[in-house]
Amino acid sequence: MMARKSLLRDSIVYSLVLLSVLLGPVLCQEEEVETLKVDPPAAAQQVGEEVEFTCTNSNTTNTEPLVWLYHNGTEISTLNLTRFTESDGVLKIMDIQDSDAGVYNCTTVSRALHVEVELKIYMMPSYLTEGLILMAINIGLILIFMVCALYRCIQTRRDKKKRKGVRT
Ligand SMILES: *[C@@H]1O[C@H](CO)[C@@H](O)[C@H](O)[C@H]1NC(C)=O
Ligand SMILES: *[C@@H]1O[C@H](CO)[C@@H](O)[C@H](O)[C@H]1NC(C)=O
Ligand SMILES: *[C@@H]1O[C@H](CO)[C@@H](O)[C@H](O)[C@H]1NC(C)=O
Ligand SMILES: *[C@@H]1O[C@H](CO)[C@@H](O)[C@H](O)[C@H]1NC(C)=O
Repeated sequence: MMARKSLLRDSIVYSLVLLSVLLGPVLCQEEEVETLKVDPPAAAQQVGEEVEFTCTNSNTTNTEPLVWLYHNGTEISTLNLTRFTESDGVLKIMDIQDSDAGVYNCTTVSRALHVEVELKIYMMPSYLTEGLILMAINIGLILIFMVCALYRCIQTRRDKKKRKGVRT
């Protein structure tokens, strides 16, 4: 009788523990802080390419419009930049120029929230420089080969001379 009672009690306790383990994370979910996020969080592009930054608010019920600031802090929508388009938090930069490099800022209209994103411009070595580098490497290899061949030639000649000297 006693054993059965304690068994029942134990199973109730275990059930409650299991239930709290399963439900705990759901019930204790922390209220998320409202933040802005940009995808991608940074970019490195070449001149002439294009890039698209998508800014979103983690609080999807907040419908406050988002504005993008140019890398000098001016609102892009107020500038006459034909290569830049902006709509619903999506900033697109076409035909990227060196002058586009910098930190862009996505903010809510009230400026209560903001997130920064950096655009870097990088240069690919041109085919000409690539070709020159390859040519330099090849010339270097040929020189090393020639020096080795010359050295062997001198060595064998010296050996022959030595052998001749021994014979006489
Ligand atoms: C989300 O936005 C709504 C509408 O602006 C606001 O009432 C709410 O407090 C915000 N939630 C958080 C977590 O900031
Ligand atoms: C930012 O740059 C744009 C484009 O070059 C220019 O029109 C604007 O006056 C600048 N704003 C500031 C505050 O320097
Ligand atoms: C904006 O730029 C375009 C092209 O550079 C030019 O034709 C136009 O007059 C400019 N508009 C203003 C308001 O400056
Ligand atoms: C981005 O905007 C926020 C709010 O307007 C400002 O505090 C911050 O300094 C800005 N950052 C840059 C790099 O302009």
